[in-house]
Amino acid sequence: MVRTRIKDVLGDEKAGAEITVAGWARTVRVGKGVTFIALSDGSCFASLQVVCEPSLANYAEVEKLGTGSALRVKGTLVDSPAAGQRFELKAESVEIVGAADESFPLQKKRHSFEYLRTIAHLRPRTNTFGAVFRMRSRLAQAVHRFFSERGFVYVHTPIITSSDCEGAGELFRVTTLPAESPPLVDGEVDFSRDFFAQSTGLTVSGQLEGELFTMAFSDIYTFGPTFRAENSNTPRHAAEFWMIEPEMAFCDLMGDAALAEEFMRYLCRAALDECGEDMAFFDQQIEKGLISRIEAVANASFAMMDYGEAIERLKKAPVAFEYPVEWGLDLQTEHERYLTEQVVGGPVFIVNYPKFIKAFYMRQNDDDKTVAAMDLLVPRVGEIIGGSQREERLDLLTLRMEEVGMDPDGIWWYLDSRRWGSCPHAGFGLGFERLIMYLTGMENIRDVIPFPRTPRHAEF
Ligand code: 4AD
Ligand code: MG
Repeated sequence: MVRTRIKDVLGDEKAGAEITVAGWARTVRVGKGVTFIALSDGSCFASLQVVCEPSLANYAEVEKLGTGSALRVKGTLVDSPAAGQRFELKAESVEIVGAADESFPLQKKRHSFEYLRTIAHLRPRTNTFGAVFRMRSRLAQAVHRFFSERGFVYVHTPIITSSDCEGAGELFRVTTLPAESPPLVDGEVDFSRDFFAQSTGLTVSGQLEGELFTMAFSDIYTFGPTFRAENSNTPRHAAEFWMIEPEMAFCDLMGDAALAEEFMRYLCRAALDECGEDMAFFDQQIEKGLISRIEAVANASFAMMDYGEAIERLKKAPVAFEYPVEWGLDLQTEHERYLTEQVVGGPVFIVNYPKFIKAFYMRQNDDDKTVAAMDLLVPRVGEIIGGSQREERLDLLTLRMEEVGMDPDGIWWYLDSRRWGSCPHAGFGLGFERLIMYLTGMENIRDVIPFPRTPRHAEF
C-alpha cells in the first residue's frame, strides 16, 4: 500500500516512474476511448491528471465514476501534452475505494462561500478551502518556528479559568450545576457547590498566566484556543478563535511593537515562500494584487501614531462615519480601516489609548490619562494585534483594579507577581484567524477556521 503524495509526484518524480497514488476525483471527463480523472489528495493545490483507457479491467465502472469518489491508482508517469501540467498518470489499475454518486454536493459548478458554510464537513474538498487550510497549517508551524528561533518558551495556559482577563464580561460559563435548578443563596447561584467550588469559564486570553511564566522564563508565548461570548455577528469575530500571545520581561512598549512588526513580516515572508501555489490561487481568484500587497508588507517598516493624533486625523476625514469620533471613545472598525487604508496606506500601530477604554492591566502613562497600549491595524482587516506594556507597580495596579470595580482578592496570584521580583514587561495578542484573512484575502472569519463557532452556529 505504498502511496506517493501528489505533491511529491509533481515535484520530485521523473517521467517513466511506476507509482501508486490515492485521493479523490475532483472531475471525471469521459471522452472517446479515454477518461480523464483529476485526482486530488490535498497535499498541494494541483491535482494529478489520470488517463484511463478502455484496456483497464474495470473501464466500464471507471467511465461512470462520480466527482468525490475515493480512488487508488497505479500507473506510469508520462510527460503531459496538456498545457499547465508537467505530468499525467497513465493508469494501469484504478481501484474504486469509495464511490460517490451524483448526490455528492460538490459537483463541478462554483458554489458560494455562504452555501459552503452549510456543508462545512465537505468544504475542505474544494480548491479554495484546500488552499485556506493548507496555509493555516503552514502558518501555525511558522508561528512556532519564529518563537523557537528566538528562544521563547512555549507555555500551555489553561482553557478553564476563573478570571476574565479582558474584563469585558464575555466569559462562557463552565459548570456542572443543573441548568434547570442550580443551588441558590439569597437568590444567587451558589458556585461554591459547583465542580471547582467557584465560578469558572472558558479563557478569553492566556495573558495573565503567561505573565507569571514571563517572570521565570523571560520570553514566552502561548498559542491556543480562545473563547468570547461576544454577541456580535461580524465578518471578523468568532466565539472560538486561536490567539498567539508572546510576553517579554524587561521590555517596554517600543520593544513590544518591534517584536510584533518582526513577527508580522516573518509570517508574510513564510506565506510567500512556503505557500506559493496557494497564494497564486488567492491572488487570481480572491484578491487581485494580494501577492504584491503581502510582498510590500514583508519589506516595509510599519508606521506608528498616537491615539490622540489618530482622533485628530479622523475628525478631519472627509468621510461620514457611522460611529462618533471623540477623544476617549474606542475606535470602531470603520475608523481603523480609514486610518490604515486611507491615512497610512499600510500597517500602523496606534499607541497610548485612553485608560478608560482599555483593560486594567495596562501600564499607566505619566499623563494620568493614557496607558501604554498598542493596536496594530492593517488594511482590509482593521485590528489584527492588541497589546501593551503591563502595569508592574503593585500600588498602581491595585488602585486601577479598584477603579474598574475588580476585586483584587479575586486574582491575588496575579498581584503576587508584582510583589516579588516585579519587572517591566510587555506582550501582545495576534488573532490567528485575522492573520489568515489578511494573508489569503478571504473576507469572512467563518471561511478561515475549519468549523466556525458564531452566535447561533455550532453544528459541525
Ligand atoms: O485585543 P485583544 O482582546 O487582546 C487581548 O486579548 C490581550 N490579552 C492580548 C495580549 O496582550 N496578550 O485580542 C487580541 C487579538 C485581536 O487584536 C484580534 O486579532 C483577536 O485577538 N481577536 C479576535 N479574533 C477573532 N474573533 C474574536 N472575537 C476576537 N477577539 C479578539
Ligand atoms: Mg483589542
